[in-house]
Formats: sequence, structure tokens, C-alpha cells
Amino acid sequence: MRVPFIAGNWKMFKTREEARAFAAEFKGLYGGTDVQTAICAPFTDLETLVEEFRGTDIKVGAQNVHFEDEGAYTGEISAAMLEDIGVDFCIVGHSERRQYFAETDETVNLKLKKLLAGTIRPIMCVGESLEERDDGKAFDKVRGQLQKGLEGIGAGDAVKIVIAYEPIWAIGTGRTATPQQAEEMCAFIRNTLIELYDEDTADEMIIQYGGSVKPANATDIMNMDEIDGALVGGASLKAKDFMEIIDF
Ligand code: PGA
Repeated sequence: MRVPFIAGNWKMFKTREEARAFAAEFKGLYGGTDVQTAICAPFTDLETLVEEFRGTDIKVGAQNVHFEDEGAYTGEISAAMLEDIGVDFCIVGHSERRQYFAETDETVNLKLKKLLAGTIRPIMCVGESLEERDDGKAFDKVRGQLQKGLEGIGAGDAVKIVIAYEPIWAIGTGRTATPQQAEEMCAFIRNTLIELYDEDTADEMIIQYGGSVKPANATDIMNMDEIDGALVGGASLKAKDFMEIIDF
């Protein structure tokens, strides 16, 4: 049985003080839930959130990592540095990083391998642009991202990876994929994972949908068979909204 996993992606929002205020409010709202929850925050907020969520089952994630252990890489952060803070998850290959920061399937692959060599579970993002969807290339695009991103990663490691399907046209646009569109692609992802690995491995892997998930559409999305969770951007910035999504 896959445990539903809902993660927030704060992107470049919130100072430490704002993160602390969020954590206080969120902990106040957070009751028992069967849903695994995490907040993926800017690097500067990670230590604060780890401290704030200590003793709860709310996990903390980063939004990027470098694939080398250490070295002359100005501005970068290593997996070991994230582990040292107590981070549990790390987003890899978000479309904003692919678009603005030259992230490629090859660097995604290296980053996944680096994280998997340690203790942090990757959240690997895949998804097509509007143009690719309109051209009927969405499925080929996502299959290619999975094939290249997961190259050389064995089944034993793959089960630790969370796949987030995020159609670029639905991110921050208010234009959500319909639950059926999201389900169709998540089912396609599961089938691709069966091809790349095997049925048991694919069955175990968590597949999230992301793109304009909010309290009003969370139930419909989470009720889909092949969708095991959500990666939530804008709506994760408000404790109340994020809590409503978790309570879908
Ligand atoms: P959004 O972002 O929920 O604001 O659309 C999702 C994401 O980019 O992970």
C-alpha cells in the first residue's frame, strides 16, 4: 500500500521569520493524518523548519542540490550539507530549474544518484509544456525524461524516488490539469516504470501530481487511483490552505 504524500514547494518565498510563523500555525492545525507531509523550502529556511517540526511527522525538503560531493561550485549546496541539517526530501528537476537554471535530464540523473547514495529521498519532477501537449508529444516527453533521468538507477533505489508529474502549463497558472488528464499521465508514468523496472517496483513508487493544486480541487485529484499525492506550490504558502489540502 502506497502512503499518500503531499509536499509543499515554497519556491523562493519566506524568510526565516515567516517560515517560523508558518510552522507555528501549521503545527496548531495539524492533527492526525495518514498522509505523509513535507515542506520543501529555500535553503535558508531548512534549519529553522527542521527545528520547528522536530517531534512531529512533518518532513522537510530542499528544492535543489548539486551532484558533486564538494568543490569549487560557487553558490551550490551538496547532499551532505542537506543531510547535515536533517533534510528528508529534495526536489530534483523542477521545470523552473530546467527552464531558468539549465537543469537537464543528465544533471537530474546525476543529482538523483547523489541523493540516493545518501539518505535524502528525491522528488523527481517531469512534465510537458503546453506546446508539447498541443502537438501530441506529452507522453513521449515524459517517457524520455523518465528514461534519461532514471538511467543506471536500480529498482532498489528507484522505490525511494517520488515522481511528480507537473505539466508546465498548469504550474502557477491557475489552470489545473483535469483529474482525468492528470490520472492518464500518472497511469502512463506507472506503466513506463513497469517497463523500466518491474511491476512490484512500479507499484511501490509514489507518483504525485503538481500544478495549481488547491483546497477546491485536492479531493478530486487525490481520489484518482494512480495519483498518490501532490506537489503544491502557491497553496502551500498558507498554513490553512495547505492543511485543507492534506485533509482532502
Ligand atoms: P503551483 O506550483 O501549485 O503554484 O502551480 C506547483 C509546483 O511548481 O510545484
